[in-house]
Amino acid sequence: MKEVKPITTQIIAHRGASGVAPENTLAAFRRAVQEGADGIEFDVHLTKDGEIVICHDETVDRTSNGMGYIYQLTLEELKRLDFGSWFSPEYEGEKILTLGEFFEQFAEYDFLINIEIKNSPIFYDGIEQKIWEQLQIYGLQEKVLVSSFYHRSLQILSQIAPSISLGVLCGCGPLEPWSMISGFQARSLNPNRFFVDRELIEQCHQMGYQVFTWTVNNKAEIKQMIEWQVDGIITNYPALARSIRDELIN
Ligand code: G3P
Ligand code: MG
Repeated sequence: MKEVKPITTQIIAHRGASGVAPENTLAAFRRAVQEGADGIEFDVHLTKDGEIVICHDETVDRTSNGMGYIYQLTLEELKRLDFGSWFSPEYEGEKILTLGEFFEQFAEYDFLINIEIKNSPIFYDGIEQKIWEQLQIYGLQEKVLVSSFYHRSLQILSQIAPSISLGVLCGCGPLEPWSMISGFQARSLNPNRFFVDRELIEQCHQMGYQVFTWTVNNKAEIKQMIEWQVDGIITNYPALARSIRDELIN
């Protein structure tokens, strides 16, 4: 008889609950908590004055009422911008968050914090060390998964902090994605959902890697990923993913 494994898939809110609130803001992160996400994913950059801030793009053009590259703006300049109104007037006044501000708000919660280092196309020299310092200040070394498409950043972090959990992001479709992991110890492969199937998940598990896939927003795909026993679904709609998982469990 085939062994039936328990469902352990984690639901990770992509840029917070970004389907229903402005991405990477406090509103989206609070909503993710309310919706029962098991974790939150967000993206980080460095400002002109060396602060770590949470934003997806390397510029503020799309998600604020300002313009310009983050690395050319100081934290004070960024804090004057509105990161909520572009999404809906009800979110007017949402401010960009620093990594430290995120930790202040959410360090106490028992969930996974997935920090994605955006180190391309803009290169942020020293961002890995700065992240590690923040993690130590808040005692969150064990609670995070740090991921990046820029694998050199993961290697640098592994040298600074050998025990930190690392997720290798891949957006294209290599035949053997695990072959991208070399030179450091990773916890997971974080592939685009387009090239995830049962076989890939099983192969990764056999090699000791977890699989966190993104961005899975569609009902049928969420169900499929859970049935394939993916370790984490990174989604804009954590409440939807929770309800599908609950249905499968009960
Ligand atoms: O970490 C998963 C996902 O966020 C990667 O893509 O572009 O949404 O940051 P992106
Ligand atoms: Mg991301």
